[in-house]
Amino acid sequence: MKIGYFYFLSLFFYLAINWLVADDGMQILQTQCSSCHAITKPTDNSLERLWTRKGPDLYYAGLKFQKEWLVKWLQQPTVIRPAGEFYFKHIKKGPNGDEIDVSSLSPHPKLSPNEAESVANALMSLKPEGLIIPGKFKNEPVNPSIGAMFFGKLRGCSACHATKEGGGGLSGPELYDAGDRLQGDFIYSFIEDPQKFEPHIWMPKLELAEADLQRLSSYLMSLHRSQQKEGK
Ligand code: HEC
Ligand code: HEC
Repeated sequence: MKIGYFYFLSLFFYLAINWLVADDGMQILQTQCSSCHAITKPTDNSLERLWTRKGPDLYYAGLKFQKEWLVKWLQQPTVIRPAGEFYFKHIKKGPNGDEIDVSSLSPHPKLSPNEAESVANALMSLKPEGLIIPGKFKNEPVNPSIGAMFFGKLRGCSACHATKEGGGGLSGPELYDAGDRLQGDFIYSFIEDPQKFEPHIWMPKLELAEADLQRLSSYLMSLHRSQQKEGK
């Protein structure tokens, strides 16, 4: 009897702490993050809203990110968009043409390990309906050089995205750690129809065939930061 009671109490505290931790994360999101990030779907769909937003939207974070990546990144943020949000606000004329005005970029706020864990839990709970179809990404193996050729030459993605540190376009987020950072179904759905996520985003909708969507998504999911360090 006594053991049963003790068991019940422990379970109660366990659940209560879990709930508090996620709740804590939501509170941090609201007080420390929502001035720069939309954590609920914006009602304003205008170009003006996109142009003036201070950080990427996070209201569908649970469909987009891998939790382990979030926990690490929130403690040690690294640059994802080489020229910040948005690139045209951080470009200046240099002797060799346009260059990034690094002095206009500020470092991202950092969280403690505990805060990062609870904020990551809160972010992973943000999963609005209708943006992605789970299971679309088939994770079929793709030959790395064919994937890179599709990304670079055939589909022109590298004009805006880097798949190697220091290489590729600057106006979109880097994708060289896409396999650590993003979910396969998100990548598939974003490439299929970027404007479904943000009606005014300038990434073109390319009307790609199913096989191309799978190939590009598999290629991006095969990219990891560890490969960068090995210099591959
Ligand atoms: C002063 C504005 C500002 C505040 C405050 C801020 N962020 Fe950010 N955040 C940014 C910008 C700008 C980026 C884009 C950085 C990049 O691409 O290199 C970003 C990127 C991110 C990303 C990656 C998003 C993506 O789509 O790549 C996450 C996750 C994130 N922030 C979470 C948070 C959390 C959690 C908080 C609150 C603790 C927070 N941010 C507070 C401006 C802000
Ligand atoms: C004209 C520039 C441009 C081209 C070309 C382009 N993109 Fe993008 N891409 C963007 C922008 C801008 C975003 C969203 C930026 C943001 O989140 O603030 C984006 C976002 C993405 C994302 C989501 C990444 C993230 O961290 O949010 C993926 C995946 C992606 N693009 C893949 C591709 C692929 C594959 C191609 C080629 C078929 C491509 N892009 C071509 C500009 C471009």
